[in-house]
Amino acid sequence: MSHATFTAETTQGLPSLVTALPGPKASAIIARDHAVLSPSYTRSYPLVAARGEGAIIEDVDGNRFLDMNAGIAVVAAGHCHPEVVRAIQEQAAQLIHMSGTDFYYENMVRLAEKLATLAPGGVPRRVYFGNSGTEAVEAALKLARYHTGRDKFIAFFGGFHGRTMGSLSLTGSKSVQKKGFGPMVPGVSHIPYAYCYRCAYNKQPDTCAVECVKVIEEQLLKTILPAEEVAAIVLEPLQGEGGYVVPPQKFFDELQAVARRHNILLIADEVQSGMGRTGKMWASEHFDFTPDILTVAKGIASGMPLSAMIARTEIMQWKPGAHASTFGGNPVAIHASLATIELLERELIDNAAKVGRFMLDRLRTWPERYANVGDVRGMGLMIGIEFIKDKQTRERHPALRDRLEQMMFERGVLVLGAGQNSMRLCPPLVITRDQAEFAMDTLEQCLREATA
Ligand SMILES: Cc1ncc(COP(=O)(O)O)c(C=O)c1O
Repeated sequence: MSHATFTAETTQGLPSLVTALPGPKASAIIARDHAVLSPSYTRSYPLVAARGEGAIIEDVDGNRFLDMNAGIAVVAAGHCHPEVVRAIQEQAAQLIHMSGTDFYYENMVRLAEKLATLAPGGVPRRVYFGNSGTEAVEAALKLARYHTGRDKFIAFFGGFHGRTMGSLSLTGSKSVQKKGFGPMVPGVSHIPYAYCYRCAYNKQPDTCAVECVKVIEEQLLKTILPAEEVAAIVLEPLQGEGGYVVPPQKFFDELQAVARRHNILLIADEVQSGMGRTGKMWASEHFDFTPDILTVAKGIASGMPLSAMIARTEIMQWKPGAHASTFGGNPVAIHASLATIELLERELIDNAAKVGRFMLDRLRTWPERYANVGDVRGMGLMIGIEFIKDKQTRERHPALRDRLEQMMFERGVLVLGAGQNSMRLCPPLVITRDQAEFAMDTLEQCLREATA
């Protein structure tokens, strides 16, 4: 069944609200949740999901929302795409688990072959499977140390790589994520990212000398970080949690040159930017960027827990027993991933590029038209809008972003923040032009109302 048929026939593609929010059933569940679940979870608004279909989420009271989050950039093929559901059901009836770390099964090989072929740069690759983004990053850190015999890493402010101790040590996003958990894994140095709207060096992207990369050789390696101790530079090619920040081409050119000069590995964390979201399979491809190691999760299996760490074959040469995970590469998740990739290649990457272009064309005019919109940036269906108080000072306006998030929820459109004062739009890749237009119309109305 094609995506067009799926969305047109089986979803009413726009929100419809039938109760005040949260409705009675949602309120009761939220009260129980608060008594028993970890308070470390951040819930931006009271959505209690019951079912999903395409880009629509229905809550327990029958309210239908347009999901511009995709479960935080996860359900690439949309909620419960029939082909993904079929793959899950078929596999679940046949083999749910046999631990790929100890035994073989064919679909694990099939998916690894596929990912190795798809990975950027066309170089020979091997694949390690985990269950979550953070596990892929942990595996990448261990492999980089193992292969290079070096123990230090360079990461970026604003980067998010996960919350287990290794990946958390790389994360440079929000201090609440680190508070109370120290000491971090030693040997990680953070430097400013190519966040051109807020350049740490007060330069302009067209004329700068890529100071944000130059700092590596001119300061870090000369003063506190001997190059021969640096295993890898870890980056998101398009920063996600940090505010959906898109670096210029020369950032990647310089980074590759520096890494080459010092035999430092490049690890691209494409957990959020991968799997077709940016209108190409990987954000790295937009920049002709060939990382040595790639980490992938989120959209890889449209919602089933799966991650992959994909490395150059000559790098992934660790010994049996060096690293493994009981559940990594679960057969059901793998089958969902194979179905997802088929859909991505058949039509959804093209749709992400097309609908993303349509959205960006419209949103790019907002900084000129609205005093409180500082910047709009993105690629494909990974779009960030930065809210500010003042065009001159660019003072951040997190309260406006948070207010808009609430107002959108009250109108049936689910959006989330990213960074200190940006909103992210990362809908499922099945989203239609009409749905995208509805989301933007609603956001524009809310913006006008909130700033009137
Ligand atoms: C770029 C990036 N890396 C790693 C992670 C961690 O993934 P997970 O939450 O699946 O552990 C995330 C999650 O948001 C992410 O965006």
